[in-house]
Amino acid sequence: MARNLITGGAGFIGSHLADHLLELGEQVVIIDNLSTGRFANVEHLEGRPGFECLIDDIRNEALLEDLIRRTDRVFHLAASVGVRLIIQKQTESLINNLVGTELVLRAASRYRRPLLIASTSEVYGKSQKPRFAESDDRLMGPTDTARWAYANSKATDEFLALAYYRETRLPVVIARLFNTVGPRQTGEYGMVIPNFVTQALQGVPVTVYGDGSQTRCFAHVRDVVPALTQLLAHPGSFGQVFNVGCDEEVSIQGLAERVIQKTGSASSILLVPYDKAYPRGFEDMERRVPDLGKIGRHLGYRPRLTLDAILEDVIREVRERGRGAKAGTRPASP
Ligand SMILES: NC(=O)c1ccc[n+]([C@@H]2O[C@H](COP(=O)([O-])OP(=O)(O)OC[C@H]3O[C@@H](n4cnc5c(N)ncnc54)[C@H](O)[C@@H]3O)[C@@H](O)[C@H]2O)c1
Repeated sequence: MARNLITGGAGFIGSHLADHLLELGEQVVIIDNLSTGRFANVEHLEGRPGFECLIDDIRNEALLEDLIRRTDRVFHLAASVGVRLIIQKQTESLINNLVGTELVLRAASRYRRPLLIASTSEVYGKSQKPRFAESDDRLMGPTDTARWAYANSKATDEFLALAYYRETRLPVVIARLFNTVGPRQTGEYGMVIPNFVTQALQGVPVTVYGDGSQTRCFAHVRDVVPALTQLLAHPGSFGQVFNVGCDEEVSIQGLAERVIQKTGSASSILLVPYDKAYPRGFEDMERRVPDLGKIGRHLGYRPRLTLDAILEDVIREVRERGRGAKAGTRPASP
């Protein structure tokens, strides 16, 4: 039974990854500082054989090194996630993403542990290509616009990971995740689907930023998580970058309409100009569609779950949460 370390394991994707690995009969250790994650995401796993949860920070270097030494492979998901959070907490977020990843790379390299780094489609920036392929050029905005800091912190993580691969032969693979959604994702940091579903269920206006014509592609976390485990298990993955996501495109206006229809809500749609929703200088992407050719050839990956299936799962969860399930709390690990 392999022992897997998941950094950020009490987060949205990390907790689903923990579920998946335990279902495969593997051991799972998670480390999470609960900055955006919630203990409630993994509470159901407490006491389960093969599961261990540490509430701590990956920048606790001695602890991290010890965990990686005692593990067979590492999924590095811990990060300050999303453009909105990075705009709100710029210094902490940048340092977290850069220093945290460097420490993970250093320890994984020391003990030669296979490592997957979660990156983001944000690294493509404002490129206008109809589909983004891994080797495409990237187009970033200026450094005085905080909006680009998340993309650049993650891109630097990628550079660093690939440098470790070349210089130390660290078996590391980069998963460039496009919008990943599903139960347990919170709307707190501007994630669109949980926000729309919550607004529709409350019967308040569903707020669409801009004119709603911008499109996005949403992958169900249950499609994404097996792809992460398969990427790390495949020796041919190392030293490479793979897009992971879904290429079914929907406009944000269309998404809002679908959420309203599926929840049976009487909510209206409220268009909010970007300058009211975000600080000055915010730019949104018109489209962001992954080219899934590379991961398709490599793993035979194709997302199976449709947007309708995603919305049904999220609506069910938000309804249940509204009926009284509350976030768990747990004292810090010694
Ligand atoms: N959800 C998406 O659509 C998406 C898209 C692209 C990339 N990603 C990447 O996937 C990863 C997981 O994202 P998520 O959506 O599950 O977000 P999340 O916020 O739910 O998960 C991140 C987790 O990392 C933890 N964390 C942050 N800093 C930490 C630190 N220093 N030490 C310990 N724990 C720490 C947080 O508490 C949280 O539980 C991130 O690296 C993110 O950049 C996610």
